[in-house]
Order: sequence, then structure tokens, then C-alpha cells
Amino acid sequence: MKDFRVVLFKDVLGFNTVWFPNSNKTYELYKAEQIAKNCKRCPLYKTRNKFVFGWGNPYSGIMAVGEAPGPEEDELGKPFVGRAGEFLDYALREAGIDRERDLYITNVLKCFPLKIINGFQNNNIENSSRQIIRRNKPFREPNPQEIKACSTWLEMQINIIKPRFILAMGNPSLRYFLGPGVNISFIAGQPRKIRNGSITVFPVQHPSFIIRNRTPENDRRYIEL
Ligand code: URA
Repeated sequence: MKDFRVVLFKDVLGFNTVWFPNSNKTYELYKAEQIAKNCKRCPLYKTRNKFVFGWGNPYSGIMAVGEAPGPEEDELGKPFVGRAGEFLDYALREAGIDRERDLYITNVLKCFPLKIINGFQNNNIENSSRQIIRRNKPFREPNPQEIKACSTWLEMQINIIKPRFILAMGNPSLRYFLGPGVNISFIAGQPRKIRNGSITVFPVQHPSFIIRNRTPENDRRYIEL
């Protein structure tokens, strides 16, 4: 029997997508996040401010997966809220996609990969020093050990959400799904089926790449993809 709320929102009110905050996927994700946020599976727990689990509508069937939180995401605990996020919002809006309604957004890594400077290893560090480190050389690529450790959480999200479509943004995300040999520059825009054909991965450049190489033409091509 159809959930009466689906009948009301979809059939009566005509909404395409409905998302009930207290329905199962939302609750399962909430429970997973409560466990995940205490994660110590890799050393990044020592330097993170906030664990950035994911955000958006788990019912749309589409997940967008980026690389790792940056300093702004690390402060707020929400993915893609910094400059890359602003550009992503703009591109999605231009393409008629509402990020809160139409996607669930997360990253391969859930913690900010702070560059470890001069053997700085633990979180025994004053706030001011943290800020200086963040300001100076904040970001580095996730390493394979971190990706492997964090895959527990990404796989948990995939199991709960069961997406039909994954927007893989940038090389770390693309390589997570398709293997180490692939390069986003060559296959952006070319969908690939994974996991017995149950998920289609759609590779796109990372929004930060477009910001670094911003031209009206690049913007247009990104939005069209
Ligand atoms: N870049 C990413 O890959 N993810 C974020 O959440 C922010 C910036």
C-alpha cells in the first residue's frame, strides 16, 4: 500500500520529489552519522574541527561525491559551503537543479585533510596555531590510507541511499568508483555503469578546477554537462 504522505504530496499536490524528514533513509543516515562522527579510523580525527558527513535529499536517487571538506566545511560541518560550494550551487541552479531538493552531497573523505606541518601530529594545539596552519597551507589531496579508512562511511551512505546515479566530482571521487587508472580530464561527461549496472557514475570536473580555470566557455560547458 502506498504511504498516504506520498499520495498527498505526489498525487494530490503534484510534487516530483518528496522527502520525509522522519522516514527511514533519513533516520538511517542520522544514526550512521552519530556513529561516524566519533571516527578515529585515520589520523585526520586529530585535526578536524567537524566531521562532515553529508547533506541533502537521500530520496532523489542522486548522490554527488566530492573530494574532501575544505576549511569552511570543516568549520560548519556541511559539505560544499565554501567557494567550491558557491560555484557548485550556481552551476546546479543554472542547470535547473536544487541542491537541497535534488541531491545528496558528500565527499570521499569526511574530514578536512589538513597539511601536517613539521611533525605536528596531535590535536594538542592552540586555536591560534590551528588558524595559522589553516590559513597558510590548508589543503592537500587525500592519501590512499585515508580514503580506504573513510570508505566505511561512504559505503554506508551508498547502502542506505541506494543511489541510481552518482555525480563523481574530480579525480579522487572518480577513482574511488572506477579505479586508479582513470582521469577526469579524459572522461568527464562520459557515464559509466558500476556495481552490476545498478549505479551510473557520471564524471564531472571538481568545481574548484573550474574556479581555477574560470572562463565563460568553461562555465557553460560545466553547466551543460
Ligand atoms: N571540496 C570538496 O571536494 N568537498 C567539499 O565539501 C568542499 C570542497
